[in-house]
Amino acid sequence: MCGIFGCILKDGIAAPVIHSSLKRLEYRGYDSVGIATIENGKIFIKKDQGKIDEVHKILNLDDMPGSLGIGHTRWATHGAPLKINSHPHVDCKGEIVAVHNGIIENFSELKLELQNLGHVFISKTDTEVIPHLIEEIMKNNPKLAFANAVQEAIKRLEGSFALAVISSREPDKIVCARNESPLVLGISDNGIFCASDIPAFLAMTNKAVMINNGELIVLTQSGYQIKKISDGSIVDRSPETIEWTAEMAVKKGYPHFMIKEIHEQPETLRNTLRLQDHYLDLLSTFLDRATEVFLVACGTSYHACLAASYMFSKLAFLPTYPVYASEFIEQHGKSVNIDSTILAVSQSGETADTIAAVTCAQQRAATILSLTNVIGSTLTRISRVYIGTQAGPEIGVAATKTFTSQLSVLAQLALRLAKKRGKVSQDEIDTLELQLDKLPAIVDTIVSTQEEKVKEIAKKYANSKVFFFLGRGISTATAFEGRLKLMEIAYIPSIAFPAGESKHGPISLVENGFPVVFVCQKDDTHKTVIGNIMEMKARGARIISVVEEGDEDIKALSDDYVEVPKGIPGVLSPIPFAVPLQLLAYYVSLERKYNPDMPRNLAKSVTVK
Ligand code: AGP
Repeated sequence: MCGIFGCILKDGIAAPVIHSSLKRLEYRGYDSVGIATIENGKIFIKKDQGKIDEVHKILNLDDMPGSLGIGHTRWATHGAPLKINSHPHVDCKGEIVAVHNGIIENFSELKLELQNLGHVFISKTDTEVIPHLIEEIMKNNPKLAFANAVQEAIKRLEGSFALAVISSREPDKIVCARNESPLVLGISDNGIFCASDIPAFLAMTNKAVMINNGELIVLTQSGYQIKKISDGSIVDRSPETIEWTAEMAVKKGYPHFMIKEIHEQPETLRNTLRLQDHYLDLLSTFLDRATEVFLVACGTSYHACLAASYMFSKLAFLPTYPVYASEFIEQHGKSVNIDSTILAVSQSGETADTIAAVTCAQQRAATILSLTNVIGSTLTRISRVYIGTQAGPEIGVAATKTFTSQLSVLAQLALRLAKKRGKVSQDEIDTLELQLDKLPAIVDTIVSTQEEKVKEIAKKYANSKVFFFLGRGISTATAFEGRLKLMEIAYIPSIAFPAGESKHGPISLVENGFPVVFVCQKDDTHKTVIGNIMEMKARGARIISVVEEGDEDIKALSDDYVEVPKGIPGVLSPIPFAVPLQLLAYYVSLERKYNPDMPRNLAKSVTVK
């Protein structure tokens, strides 16, 4: 998730406008920045790794000539956050310049094809294939208009993209296009803009033109022309007026980043399904060969590890040990060795306890593998192999979209391992892969059909003094995550444990009206969960269940319930089943008049041990 921006001004210098607009897109990515402008047919580029303010201090991003230009603020997915990988990227002659947000899935093949044709690539990014592809098409069709060459090039791209391209051969226009990644135009009296998001140009105009998937736009000083990428047919669309403040716009009209990020999960889950095979294969090969595997993390990431231990065991018969990073050194510091493999999971890649645990293991020659959402973070720099979870920046302190993205990547790793080890049938693997592909749409359905219901449940229980969160099997991890969310943003003491443990002590707490949340997937644990619900009800507990659609047995036993679509395999269930619990915590926090984005006593990344 990066931010792209382009502008053509009737009067004035584009660079300062691009600079300030990228600042308003910085929540989309902030590990490198770059701007390209055109003046008298000559292209000027300034770019470097680092936050916009840091780079501006060194390069002065406002000091570039020309009233036309494009810019980019990056969230690394392919290639570390280094100057060489920062956008804009150019063709061999520096005449065609592109910025891009999204993931080009077939970039390796395209890059190889173009290298065989003599093109020289300088970065590790997927984006760099775009200007070289356009260059090759224009070389083979010198009479082809720039915009048509861009159109032909785009037809070769697979994956998600919002891109903007300029060329010194036709220096009066910007060509931009969209497939899945967001793109919107801004129309003002003094200029025309294209951007990943409305906040970028809201200070200049509230007249916006929404761009749909599969559309290409040619911007000139006199206006814009929208065409279908597939057949070039013209699309007529007028601007609409946006009634948002700049702050509202950054949150896309949502009141808080947390609820915005909960709603982003269908998109972020889709991104996780576009990971490069190479890294999934590499990481699963290391796990396959491992003698012992520790899954090391903190907080929400630890809950992803807990769920993964069920996935690895059930699908690949690989036993793994989920360990709280803050306890790793004490618990395993002496025994971890060259035969140990650590799979560390961290949204930020900077959590001190996780870094300390990994460093301890590394010093004892263990193999370090990791999952993180921040390419270029400390964890990526000390890992043998790492995979980015592609969720984009997460502003809300309470992790939501990064949790479900971690789970999706871990499930894909478990499936790769299952294939390698042949422990489950190909049919089962095919079914699971099919279900994994359906998860973005399933999460979309849950949010759109159950949010209002969760709001009502939150209103009903917001003044509860304590909560239990219970699950069996892999849903134990989901219950732990539900508990953490409620505690960290609604400040209600909450206890989670495997439902089977309740009669070994915790049930003594239960009395009339005591809210107990059950996470109930329809698998071998179903019957025993019904027994646990009966135990709690017998002591006056109020039962709130997250159940599969049509699970009449548990619905009949519940005081309140939220439904998720049926047919989700148990090993994938934490992804959709966590969403109602994220919503519950959010709405209870609102009912208690707290700000879910800035929970007291907490920070987004805990960099102190
Ligand atoms: C989760 O909502 C919290 N923000 C916190 O528990 C977090 O998961 C934990 O600090 C680990 O952070 P990391 O994933 O960045 O390492």
